[in-house]
Amino acid sequence: MKYEFTKRMSNVKASAIREILKATADPDMISFAGGNPAADAFPTDAIEKISADILKNDPISVLQYGITEGDKGLIEAATKFFNRHEKVFGLGDKMLITSGSQQIMEFAAKCLCNEGDVVVCENPSFLGALNAFKSLGAILRGVEYKEGQLDLEALEKALQAQPKPKFIYLIPNFQNPTGMTMSFEVRQQVLALAKQYEVLILEDNPYGDLRFEGTAIPSIKSLDQDGFVIYAASLSKIIAPGMRIACCIGPTEIVNKFTVAKQASDVHSNLWAQKVMARYLTEYDMDEHIAVIQKIYKDKCNLMLQEMEKHFHKDVHYTKPTGGMFIWVTLPKHVNMQEFVKKALAQNVAVVPGHAFLDDDNKECHSFRMNFSTPTNEKIIEGIRLLGELTFQMI
Ligand SMILES: Cc1ncc(COP(=O)(O)O)c(C=O)c1O
Repeated sequence: MKYEFTKRMSNVKASAIREILKATADPDMISFAGGNPAADAFPTDAIEKISADILKNDPISVLQYGITEGDKGLIEAATKFFNRHEKVFGLGDKMLITSGSQQIMEFAAKCLCNEGDVVVCENPSFLGALNAFKSLGAILRGVEYKEGQLDLEALEKALQAQPKPKFIYLIPNFQNPTGMTMSFEVRQQVLALAKQYEVLILEDNPYGDLRFEGTAIPSIKSLDQDGFVIYAASLSKIIAPGMRIACCIGPTEIVNKFTVAKQASDVHSNLWAQKVMARYLTEYDMDEHIAVIQKIYKDKCNLMLQEMEKHFHKDVHYTKPTGGMFIWVTLPKHVNMQEFVKKALAQNVAVVPGHAFLDDDNKECHSFRMNFSTPTNEKIIEGIRLLGELTFQMI
């Protein structure tokens, strides 16, 4: 039998990260390629306790079907939690509980883009989202950075170009893959441009609570009173990604459409996970828990940067994140990045080649992504030493 697949899926390649992660299953491998929370960042005892209590005292409540919008208790707890520092849930908004924020990316493209419609994204951007958009027939129009911030002139050109884009996909805090953060001024100007050209923004903020330095910058969603922003808030990076719980907050009309998409997709998010999350958010001190994670990531990030400073060739440039999980490393132009990544893998050090995160992965790229949240301190020290030697061999 010759299997035939859709044209739209022909543009979507198996995630480069997943492929590299397969190679990293070897316990001797030093992996800076993943994007997982640190093993000691999970509230395992609390999850065990809540789960056992629900299964003992009210099992049918988590074993039965639930409603598509999400568990009422979780919607209430999550609204309170995500609104605790700023108003992301505004007047006229609604929340939908989704199976991870990845599903919000899918619904955005599914509900807002016809085949061939354009999505504007940062270049580079989160591969999972880009693949979700492409798998639903959308075309990506990437906007580059200039001096550490999104190039607003290039963004305006991307909004003026035809066909008119359906939405702008942005990760303003500790971006994946660069670790960069959008300034307050740029957020304001991006929102102003979105309004001027009447294009929606999909603001993806899974890392906002992982700030370990400096003060929080208001989300674009909190600056908008006119229904231009759909906000993706995830509990993956601050509680547990395996539970697959995220919240989409946006204008009611859009969220209602996403709810219909969810009915057709997976009916509702895992009710067991939703009920456990609801109780964790209400019964435990989230700020205390988040402070523990921030400390772990701050120490790991500082260690990685300190070792890079010691061992990397001076012509290698890299971002210095103030939160999140990633550092973006750029080699000099004459060094073949893909060759560098291959040689690193041969020495048992895995990083993700940067072209995988571009709107068009055939574009020239001299950068790669490194993750600091997952590896142990020993692996960070050894891995950076090996990568450092490689920078001196290849530059
Ligand atoms: C920027 C960004 N958005 C969304 C996601 C998806 O997260 P989840 O589906 O677990 O909420 C990730 C995961 O790494 C991410 O980096």
